[in-house]
Amino acid sequence: MNLPVNSPCSSRAVLIFGGAGFIGSHWAHFLLTNTEASVHIFDNLSRKNGEDNLRWLRKSPGADSRVQVTVADIRDSRAVERAVCAASEIYHFAAQTGVTASVADPRTDFEVNALGTFNVVEAARRSGNRPFLLFTSTSKVYRRIRPSHSDHGVLDRNFQAGSNSVSVVESQTLDFHFPYGCSKGMADQYVHDYARTFGVPTVVFRLSAVAGPRQSGSDDQSWVSRFILSALEREPVFIYGNGRQIRDVLAVGDLLRAFAAAYEYREKTAGQIYNIGGGAANVVSLAEFIGLIATVLNVRVEYRFHPARPGDQPVYITNFSKFTKHTEWLPERSVEQIVYDIGNWYRSSKAPSIPAQLPIPASTVARDAIRQIAS
Ligand SMILES: NC(=O)c1ccc[n+]([C@@H]2O[C@H](COP(=O)([O-])OP(=O)(O)OC[C@H]3O[C@@H](n4cnc5c(N)ncnc54)[C@H](O)[C@@H]3O)[C@@H](O)[C@H]2O)c1
Repeated sequence: MNLPVNSPCSSRAVLIFGGAGFIGSHWAHFLLTNTEASVHIFDNLSRKNGEDNLRWLRKSPGADSRVQVTVADIRDSRAVERAVCAASEIYHFAAQTGVTASVADPRTDFEVNALGTFNVVEAARRSGNRPFLLFTSTSKVYRRIRPSHSDHGVLDRNFQAGSNSVSVVESQTLDFHFPYGCSKGMADQYVHDYARTFGVPTVVFRLSAVAGPRQSGSDDQSWVSRFILSALEREPVFIYGNGRQIRDVLAVGDLLRAFAAAYEYREKTAGQIYNIGGGAANVVSLAEFIGLIATVLNVRVEYRFHPARPGDQPVYITNFSKFTKHTEWLPERSVEQIVYDIGNWYRSSKAPSIPAQLPIPASTVARDAIRQIAS
């Protein structure tokens, strides 16, 4: 898909809440590299590698004149209002991201995810500018899907056929679990309703696992990076549950193309909710993923099982066909390529001692090898 980037005379004033985080810093970098937009990052730097991400961003083309950083908290409604009033586009990624942390401290989770998001949409409404506003919600807002034994048979066949028939569409029943699911679900519904009730052009992306270089690998962020970085650090990988949980994975680069498409086709996407993820072609079980890391990165992976964590869905596969229909977007990078990308980034930035040439991932070979581990 060819995405037209900004024309030279464009005056996109982009505000990114959570712009120092994993997804936010990638999106800021994409905008600086591919468009002429000015980028305003609003972040409280609570994610521990936020300063590193900002240093990386400052090396982007035109960063000196086009990037502004505000270190502030989305719970501060005045600070949010001040930032929003000059924005023509808003991307809201700032969040408390951990299910476990939400159980330990539900008030903070509520204040950041629910009230913080309310501050953002309310500031957008009150600005009177009708800024385009995209919010990243989560697949955890859906009812837990518990496949029976026969469903597992269906799943196996569908993996091989690359079918979408067991994947989750946007009409799937909402069912919020745990404070994190409730606070993100509430935010998701507020953002959506501000399009219906007040005409703010909002878009909600319900994301499953997104992964790529520069992800922190901490427990509350992504199992994908956590597994890969632990293996490369020669530390054991902890699998919560029995490892048979089934997930789809999306490359962060493919998500950036989805943001660009949502903006480009905003006449169609405004007011919509979309499931965004790797989909049926990018499905893997956690146990399979261990074998995949070993094959693609040529490392020995030690792993240990821990009790399942609250909120873990046994199966989740994204059906993104609604978004494809509206924008022609499709993910491009396979799970193997995502593992390769993260390994390559780690090698070049953190561990030059690891062999320079990682084996090029060969999708079918790797997937065949990992199936043996999962069985
Ligand atoms: N990464 C994924 O796989 C994934 C999956 C589903 C949903 N999401 C959603 O996407 C968004 C971005 O995720 P990410 O992986 O980039 O997370 P991240 O933790 O890397 O980024 C979030 C950023 O928000 C900032 N932040 C947190 N609380 C804040 C506050 N009170 N005020 C201001 N800034 C604050 C953090 O410092 C951080 O820089 C989140 O809303 C998350 O729920 C991500």
